[in-house]
Amino acid sequence: MVSRVIPVDPFDLVIFGGTGDLARRKILPGLFRRFCAGQMPESSQIIGAARSDLDDAAYRKMVGDAIAEFGGGRACDSGTLDAFLKTVHYVKTDAKGDGGWAELNDRIQQDRVRAFYFSVGPSLFGDLAERLHRFGLATPQSRIVVEKPFGHDLESAKALNATLAEHFDETQIYRIDHYLGKETVQNLMAVRFGNMLFEPLWNAQYVDHIQITVAETVGVGGRGGYYDKSGAMRDMMQNHLMQLLCLIAMEPPAKFDPDAVRDEKLKVIRALEPVEPHHIVRGQYAPTKNEPGYRDDVDDPKSRTESFIALKCHISNWRWAGTPFYLRTGKRLKARTSEIAVVFKDAPHSIFGVDAGRHRNVLAIRLQPNEGMTLDVTIKEPGPGGMRLLDVPLDMSFAEALGPEAEEAPDAYERLIMDVIRGNQTLFMRGDEVEAAWAWTDPLIAGWQDRNDVPKEYDAGSSGPEDALMLMHRDGRKWREIKV
Ligand code: BG6
Repeated sequence: MVSRVIPVDPFDLVIFGGTGDLARRKILPGLFRRFCAGQMPESSQIIGAARSDLDDAAYRKMVGDAIAEFGGGRACDSGTLDAFLKTVHYVKTDAKGDGGWAELNDRIQQDRVRAFYFSVGPSLFGDLAERLHRFGLATPQSRIVVEKPFGHDLESAKALNATLAEHFDETQIYRIDHYLGKETVQNLMAVRFGNMLFEPLWNAQYVDHIQITVAETVGVGGRGGYYDKSGAMRDMMQNHLMQLLCLIAMEPPAKFDPDAVRDEKLKVIRALEPVEPHHIVRGQYAPTKNEPGYRDDVDDPKSRTESFIALKCHISNWRWAGTPFYLRTGKRLKARTSEIAVVFKDAPHSIFGVDAGRHRNVLAIRLQPNEGMTLDVTIKEPGPGGMRLLDVPLDMSFAEALGPEAEEAPDAYERLIMDVIRGNQTLFMRGDEVEAAWAWTDPLIAGWQDRNDVPKEYDAGSSGPEDALMLMHRDGRKWREIKV
């Protein structure tokens, strides 16, 4: 299998917040890897724009250091780094004033795609959009890229959408949810819609339930200030897990094009039923002997923000009526693992009698790490002595099946930035999609705030609070183990 890298046309990319954490960790190293792979032409320009007093040389030094720290890639060497750094420039720009904008305009080439990456807090989105317009930088060839969090609730998301819409058309706005850029997340669509095997069974008649787990081992670390105002619901559930749910539950789009895919995802979100309060479990990680607990991390001994959430939800449509979806995500858990498991119903009648026990097919899709798929199949236990049944996995690791190519696949940011340049919005969230996700989320948050709900403490390194286990036990089901 040979990977096909299709170079994009030369482009200009302005990174507002070009000296910030996201730019240093993800955007700049990602661009460098695309450069090494031959996808980014040498005549492209990457323009850092921020408040710091830097010139091209100082910014290039910063970019070089970021690449050294956060990773180039196997195909990259120092000669390539020099060539890449020649594409990098810096313009000191004031997002809230007039400084730097004329210079930025002079630096950008005409007649090519120009992308503006808003790698800054959402409070600056309006200022940037307005100035891009006023200083003549916003042209039909322009695209803007905005990061999550896209709003804090429905009202703020609507306000952000309205602000951006004053200056840009929806086809020019790229809202990033980096989960959609993950290779294995895109693979969900390939598995579902590229195979005849699964889709006929992919409904309430054959599927008992679906569980989605995104578990992390890290705590909130230095992001306490942001995180404590968000919690797992806003930080992960409203966006990343919601997107996974959409891809697993949506109807087949007529074609793989941006609006066809996003129309189907939107229908799933709109069909989500409100979640009953007793179907939501929230938790906070407790301190250990050596490590602080959640409340220490956010420096608030009374914080009621959740670092873990599990919930059971239903999608009211013909395909899924009656099939529960169990979703959970949290920090400081047992292992870093993201997995979707489709648990099929029991065979309608067991010809082997009750002694054969209960056996079920489970299709588990491992998103990270150790990406792959497992299908549990029931077989006969070998040997004499009657018919005993056993579940064994058909196990496929993408790394083993695809070799080095799987390892060299672009990471989420690389993939998404190249999609921006190509003008492909399939893997970006549309404004109405984000608003629908908030419309479902807001009442759940308001509900626990009204009830003065206090998150349950859970041990760091565990699978979350006991109550989360009970959420499934009560239904005669159980979570899959959190393990790598
Ligand atoms: C981010 C969240 O969007 O996703 C973080 O803000 C979280 O809190 C991160 O840690 C997880 O991303 P990944 O790619 O490491 O699974």
